[in-house]
Amino acid sequence: MPPIIVARQLGKTYRSGKIETHALRDASFSVDRGEFIAIVGPSGSGKSTLFYLLGGLTRATGGSVTIDGLDFNSLSDAERTRRRGEKIGFVFQRFNLLPTLTARGNIELAHSIASPGKPFDSTLLGKLAELLRIEARLDSRPSELSGGEQQRVAIARALITRPAIILADEPTGNLDTENSDTVLGMLRHASQELGQTVLMITHNPEAAAVADRIVYVRDGRLHDTPPPPRADSKPFLSSLLSD
Ligand SMILES: Nc1ncnc2c1ncn2[C@@H]1O[C@H](COP(=O)(O)OP(=O)(O)O)[C@@H](O)[C@H]1O
Ligand SMILES: [Mg+2]
Repeated sequence: MPPIIVARQLGKTYRSGKIETHALRDASFSVDRGEFIAIVGPSGSGKSTLFYLLGGLTRATGGSVTIDGLDFNSLSDAERTRRRGEKIGFVFQRFNLLPTLTARGNIELAHSIASPGKPFDSTLLGKLAELLRIEARLDSRPSELSGGEQQRVAIARALITRPAIILADEPTGNLDTENSDTVLGMLRHASQELGQTVLMITHNPEAAAVADRIVYVRDGRLHDTPPPPRADSKPFLSSLLSD
């Protein structure tokens, strides 16, 4: 089977006025169906930019990204939005739950966007809520939930659509050890048993160790092995841990 994600010399330069930031340069890699990849790197290295590009949330300024055979950069905005909803479940670093909806409302909305007209799978929601320990919180609004609870609602929202690809930015960042282990176990299960492809940004070496493969990001470039520390910066691992 062809890889589900293929990035070729993908690049993103942010421009504001005369200032250019090369957030990502020449990123070439591919991801097999069902693979679980951890993306690690210090703050500001380009991880979230890579996340937005791979998820079709923003357009590259160079190179291409193909998701399940579709060149996301060449699609119209409307088509890209539709395909994205069908194929990808997102867990954002800041959760991005809608404040006016309850936890359940947020999860139901994600389903109706991804699968318009299809019945909502209440059994799956029940299972996810039980595993994520949010059954008692489903009728609460985000402002009534702790950070860890909001994060677990965001994870249920990403999984409810049974997406082919799960993109998660620091999904265990706000969780205690028990909930973190649960979430990592669910992502592992999604990849190993359900064949879903998982890309997880993380600062946590224990979380990264759960993945099949680690991609290191440094100064907007991807590496297969930890890049050597720069003379003018802290060692890679300590900069990773102190973020
Ligand atoms: N919307 C933006 N406009 C301008 N610069 C940005 C924007 N988003 C990110 N950057 C810059 O791009 C670089 C990479 O950022 P980001 O991808 O968020 O890194 P990470 O997620 O690894 O912390 C940083 O220098 C950051 O300041
Ligand atoms: Mg980030």
